Amino acid sequence: MDRMLIDGGVTLNGKVKVSGAKNSILPLLFSTLLAKGKHRFTNVPKLADVDSALKLLQELGASYSWEGNSLEVVTNDLTSNEAHYDIVRKMRASILCMGPLLARTGSASVSLPGGCAIGSRPIDLHLEAFQEMGASIENKSGYIIATAKPLKGANILFDITTVGGTENVMMAAVLAEGSTTIENAAKEPEIIDLAEYLNKMGANVVGAGTGVISITGVKELKPATHEVVPDRIEAGTLLIAGAITGGDVEVLDCRPKDIETLIHKLRESGFKVDEGEDWVRVFPNKSWKAVDITTAAHPGFPTDLQAQFMALMTVAQGTSVISETIFENRFMHVPELVRMGAQISLDGNKAVVEGNSILEGAPVMCTDLRASAALVLTSLVANGKTRIQRVYHVDRGYEGIDKKFFDLGAKIKRLNEPME
Ligand code: UD1
Repeated sequence: MDRMLIDGGVTLNGKVKVSGAKNSILPLLFSTLLAKGKHRFTNVPKLADVDSALKLLQELGASYSWEGNSLEVVTNDLTSNEAHYDIVRKMRASILCMGPLLARTGSASVSLPGGCAIGSRPIDLHLEAFQEMGASIENKSGYIIATAKPLKGANILFDITTVGGTENVMMAAVLAEGSTTIENAAKEPEIIDLAEYLNKMGANVVGAGTGVISITGVKELKPATHEVVPDRIEAGTLLIAGAITGGDVEVLDCRPKDIETLIHKLRESGFKVDEGEDWVRVFPNKSWKAVDITTAAHPGFPTDLQAQFMALMTVAQGTSVISETIFENRFMHVPELVRMGAQISLDGNKAVVEGNSILEGAPVMCTDLRASAALVLTSLVANGKTRIQRVYHVDRGYEGIDKKFFDLGAKIKRLNEPME
């Protein structure tokens, strides 16, 4: 079981490249189920979640091969339509195979994801939408069994903006009979990336990136080639790493417009941040002021950067209020940050963060992906050594993050130690 050992107090400096987006490649991989043949993706991050998605595709009858960060997926005849508990429990995004399977084969059986560290995260909105498209849904022995012959276009209005729900419906609708409209659709950059790939395959998707997406079903799709968008959450995490250590860090191969809200908040806090078309740079700063953030669906402040921003606020001047509106229970990092000397109190979905904390290295435990990124950031500025356990959470979503931080000057080591 890998751990990370970080010796804090080092300023990070230099240039660092961002990998492809985890939250883009996952739906893209499931979209391969829609068209027989050879799909090719470049700029694919090598992550534990990508391995889980590939394992699931393999169980459904697909095959794949890597060449560096390029990935070829072949989806000829599918041999199964079942996503088993073993994979779904590890990666909730497995639910995204349901739309494409329903569209291509008329049926899908997907294990219920169950509880998750950052809240209950139901899939009711996905299922209601499929029902509106003519699917019948049954819950049997922990599995959701969906059948639809044929799947029909419908007007879907989501009560809550859901990224996964929007993606699942998009993938179902491209091969459905007739037209589908998704209202209150998610506007995340990953939705646009998926729409681009679906359209490259011959689909007719209009309006991705806005609140209303219109899809006209087609009879057949053909595989295509696609470059995965840069990971905006990784870009934001690296930028905050530069900021929190008072360093000069330039993040390359990213899309600053995808993290405008973070950049705006960093500037409000007192950081000088420069940006170009595909790079963003944070300049050294000795003292920054506390600012409040409220997470929201894109283009609001991303919930996936909330924990990392909180780490930055623990050493800001003053008190900040961090409100989490997307997921309940997404403050699992708070007790660990407190163990390192942060002063944070929780009140429902708000965290009140007192700045000016003297942070000390400590043994800490990762609880979920973004919480673990916050622990790494805090360790970089804490006095002394921090030993981070359960780093497999980090590996789910950050490609070679320890090497990237090491190259920027961090004293960071990965240890392979037996579980205590
Ligand atoms: C995706 C991202 C995740 C990010 C989240 C919000 C991927 C693989 N994951 O997750 O990193 O944190 O968007 O930006 O892209 N909800 C329901 N019923 C449903 C579906 C969702 O109530 O059927 C609720 C959720 O509990 C949550 C909110 O809607 O409160 C938003 O969730 P959603 O956008 O669906 O998140 P994911 O797609 O799971």
